[in-house]
Amino acid sequence: MQIDLYEDGERNALADAMEVMVRAFDPVFGEAWTMSQLAGVMLMPGTWLTVAQLDAAPLGFALVRSVLDECELLLLAVDPLWRGRGIGETLLRHSLTTARRRGITSMNLEVRSTNKAVKLYEKSGFEYVHRRPGYYRGNDGQLHDALSFRIDMLA
Ligand SMILES: CC(C)(COP(=O)(O)OP(=O)(O)OC[C@H]1O[C@@H](n2cnc3c(N)ncnc32)[C@H](O)[C@@H]1OP(=O)(O)O)[C@@H](O)C(=O)NCCC(=O)NCCS
Repeated sequence: MQIDLYEDGERNALADAMEVMVRAFDPVFGEAWTMSQLAGVMLMPGTWLTVAQLDAAPLGFALVRSVLDECELLLLAVDPLWRGRGIGETLLRHSLTTARRRGITSMNLEVRSTNKAVKLYEKSGFEYVHRRPGYYRGNDGQLHDALSFRIDMLA
């Protein structure tokens, strides 16, 4: 499988990301962003979007916002039909490489403690920083803890 990655406003990155967004996030947790939220954050300097595609079909995306030498992984998502094939890991690795290329020295992220993505972040070298109890409220009213992770890229 050959996955192509592209960034920022190349092609139709926002629309492609939204196509994945509506499929990737379980509505129970209310974590999906709207097009206007995504477009709004993309207007901020230092924000970039990486899309993975196969034959022009979007399979996944990663959204990163940076300020000076720090950045935050805001969203990472892969179409449910394409999970478990390394696309999420490829997008994360690509985001880290892009960050390094831009002179950024650390990446932070926050994730629901029950999200399978925690395993991916730990496997990719992120270190646990802290837990925020009951930080997220799902659409069903249930509260979920948030975990913060960070990776330093000085080496
Ligand atoms: C998290 C997500 C992006 C992973 O995408 P993916 O393409 O399936 O991930 P990969 O195939 O690259 O898997 C990489 C690693 O993640 C972990 N992982 C991913 N899915 C997992 C699952 N269902 N169960 C356990 N571990 C899992 C594993 O450690 C895996 O490595 P391994 O296959 O060597 O064990 C995808 O599940 C997703 O879109 N989830 C919904 C959106 C979301 O919650 N995103 C994260 C917060 S923004």
